[in-house]
Amino acid sequence: MFGEDHEQVVFCSNRPSGLRAVIAIYSTALGPALGGTRFHSYASDEDALADALELSRAMAYKAACAGLDLGGGKAVILGDPGKDKTEALLEAYGGFVESLGGRYITACDVGTRGEDMDVIARRTRFVSGRPRASYAGGDSAVPTAAGVYQGMLAAAESVWGAPSVEGRRVGVAGVGKVGFHLTANLVAGGARVVVCDVDPAAVERARALSPGVESVDVDALPSADLDVYAPCALGGAVNDQTVDQLRARIVCGGANNQLARPEIAKALDDRGILYVPDYVVNAGGLIHVADEYHGYDEARVRARVEEIFHTTGQLLETAAAAGEPPSVTADRIAEERMAKGRWRAPGPFTGGDQG
Ligand SMILES: NC(=O)c1ccc[n+]([C@@H]2O[C@H](COP(=O)([O-])OP(=O)(O)OC[C@H]3O[C@@H](n4cnc5c(N)ncnc54)[C@H](O)[C@@H]3O)[C@@H](O)[C@H]2O)c1
Repeated sequence: MFGEDHEQVVFCSNRPSGLRAVIAIYSTALGPALGGTRFHSYASDEDALADALELSRAMAYKAACAGLDLGGGKAVILGDPGKDKTEALLEAYGGFVESLGGRYITACDVGTRGEDMDVIARRTRFVSGRPRASYAGGDSAVPTAAGVYQGMLAAAESVWGAPSVEGRRVGVAGVGKVGFHLTANLVAGGARVVVCDVDPAAVERARALSPGVESVDVDALPSADLDVYAPCALGGAVNDQTVDQLRARIVCGGANNQLARPEIAKALDDRGILYVPDYVVNAGGLIHVADEYHGYDEARVRARVEEIFHTTGQLLETAAAAGEPPSVTADRIAEERMAKGRWRAPGPFTGGDQG
């Protein structure tokens, strides 16, 4: 059955505005389920549901591993954000978020922006990622990229003995918001960066960061001569095809759900490639919106994001000692923390994880 591991899945429909959405709550064991709203044209309703289920699960694991008192949830609105996004639709969606009484807190994701959160907030208190509440330059991609960079330094220390990417060749696949800022971090850290993107303008923006930034075709990056491969576009970048092409020693990037199937972690491990679990290193954005929800403190966010270096280092040590891929260890750490969670969700519904 679809979603059998989830606490709650809500199908939202509002005919006057044309809203069709799915809100998936994987767990509220550790706290309210905070996760963004994706606005996307899915090929089918099944694809939309599957995306909401998978993304909400990843949010729960991400929050648990980052030590945050948050559950995991995610929502998808079905439609083309360029054509279908109206204030009436976003307000109707806000009403559904409010109806969950604080079990789910929404924020931005692919296809939604801070301004949309302001519209959603007309109908619900349970929203973060709002521009006027953010710090100057308040894009969550900045702390996300900073956290990925910290995770990459920890991986470098584990593989090469020093927490540095200086002189290493790093391939950044997708230079949108996160990939761009990661490239900037890598250039500052002395890495040799190769980027790719389906959008030529994004490639140009990244190349403008430094004369040393190279670019290659999207299909050429996985098999390029790299030390680190950093997927920063959509999910599934490491799949049955790319897993055999990779020449990098480390895979560490910002994209969510990088492995097309969980079993790919084992295939990477067998090839001696260290895969640093995506949700462990890309938690910076979640740390940012979680902090904002309680009143933003830039220094506190920066310190928590820098902690990703230690979280990743400890995880890699534990995984090596256990002789298993780090993604398996990370899942177990998250599951153990969730199993101990005792947050009492508001409202009449008392989800399955709350003993
Ligand atoms: N923004 C955040 O704070 C945040 C936080 C955690 C995780 N993530 C994840 O990071 C990833 C990137 O997010 P973003 O906010 O930078 O999105 P974005 O839309 O700004 O950037 C994605 C980029 O990838 C490019 N792209 C699409 N398909 C590609 C392909 N096949 N090959 C190469 N490039 C391709 C796009 O043209 C775009 O430039 C997503 O998986 C997102 O879920 C983002």
